[in-house]
Amino acid sequence: MSELYKKAIEVLENNWRGRFSIPCAKLYPFQWFWDSGLIAIGLAHFDMEKAETEIKTLLDSQWGNGFIPHIIFHSESDSYFPGPDFHRSDLHPQSSKKYNSTGMTQPPVTGFVLEEIYRISKDKKATLKFIESTIDKVFFNHQYFYNNRDPHNEGLVYIYHNWESGTDNSPIWDDIWDTMNPPEYTFERRDTTHVDPSQRPSKREYDHYLYIIDIAKEHNYSDAKIAELSPFLVQDPLFNAMLIKSNESLIYLYEKLGKHEKVSQLKKWQEKSIQSFNSKLFDEEIGAYVHYDLRNERPLQFLSSSSFSPLFAGIPDEERANAMVEVMLKKFGGEHQYLCASFDPTSERFNPKKYWRGPVWINLNWMLYNGLKKYEINDIAQRVKQDTIDMLQNNGFYEYFDSRKEMHNNGKAGYGGNNFSWSAALLIDLLEG
Ligand code: GLC
Repeated sequence: MSELYKKAIEVLENNWRGRFSIPCAKLYPFQWFWDSGLIAIGLAHFDMEKAETEIKTLLDSQWGNGFIPHIIFHSESDSYFPGPDFHRSDLHPQSSKKYNSTGMTQPPVTGFVLEEIYRISKDKKATLKFIESTIDKVFFNHQYFYNNRDPHNEGLVYIYHNWESGTDNSPIWDDIWDTMNPPEYTFERRDTTHVDPSQRPSKREYDHYLYIIDIAKEHNYSDAKIAELSPFLVQDPLFNAMLIKSNESLIYLYEKLGKHEKVSQLKKWQEKSIQSFNSKLFDEEIGAYVHYDLRNERPLQFLSSSSFSPLFAGIPDEERANAMVEVMLKKFGGEHQYLCASFDPTSERFNPKKYWRGPVWINLNWMLYNGLKKYEINDIAQRVKQDTIDMLQNNGFYEYFDSRKEMHNNGKAGYGGNNFSWSAALLIDLLEG
């Protein structure tokens, strides 16, 4: 086992909190939905029991309507803003009575995480038993999305907050902030006491974030009201690709279990989703998938690492996939750049140090690697893998990384939180792969 692998295990062990993992000490002291799923993939390689517990705890927070929240506040902590008192999940009549949480969700990774855990497992029989005990909750979560987040019955679900996307301050949202004028909130940020403020979102961006939550709270987090009133309503290619990839995994796992009742429903969702995804979210001019602003009925024509995430879910046909990779290499893949920046490096909105406005993120790279392999674009897949390992090796297990190679000479090109869980977890999976 290499030193790097050992260090990754150490990061995960330090971030383990008995029943779940935190993404990163101080900066993110609770359980986050998609972090939890991706972390479980890493845990499964060396401690299957922890991997299963991680997922069980996550699913235990599920609401009566199938919804799974983006943050589960397992403890009191004053190192995080906005905390449970701001989010007030109790306003929703079907929210969990057991856990405080936010009233928003995150990319639905759980379905494909179960399949990954099964793939990694050395005791398939035992793992299948675990999957049997959890899979219906994941199905129920997908049912929540299709029944409540798809007002035009297109097979594409919306997100109502940028924090639901997982790509919090992407420049894509700037176009939506331009349509809003939220009040100036008075609050004390905590993130900027842990991390250099130049690497985090601005105060004015936070005003927008809080204002959307206030609108949802005013209506007790009613999905119908949010669909009607939220100024932020977006069909996000990353989010929908995660749902589609997870649908596919649920079909595979239900068939493995010999439980067929839910398969035809899943196949119906899947067919419609993939069809709409390809017809509505693919942008011919840009040559990749883009976000759609459902509130203002317009595509948001920007390239980001989310634009390539459909490869992971097998959404484009082979010809389109190859053409997309050409676009990616041209814009993101120059010889002085690590793959894959989170936002178009040729855009004036690109900022290689600021969170989701440019830096490379390990989770998106892991998806890209697996997506490229699926289409047998193996040379570029290997490049993404090697770039990822090099960045972690040279800088440590940071949250995000500068995409400019010259910035990596002194080992200080990792930004945001350090000892970040999914960076460690997905490195383990890459090293095993
Ligand atoms: C940041 C990221 C989000 C992640 C969370 C916890 O908010 O943007 O994707 O889930 O941190 O790591």
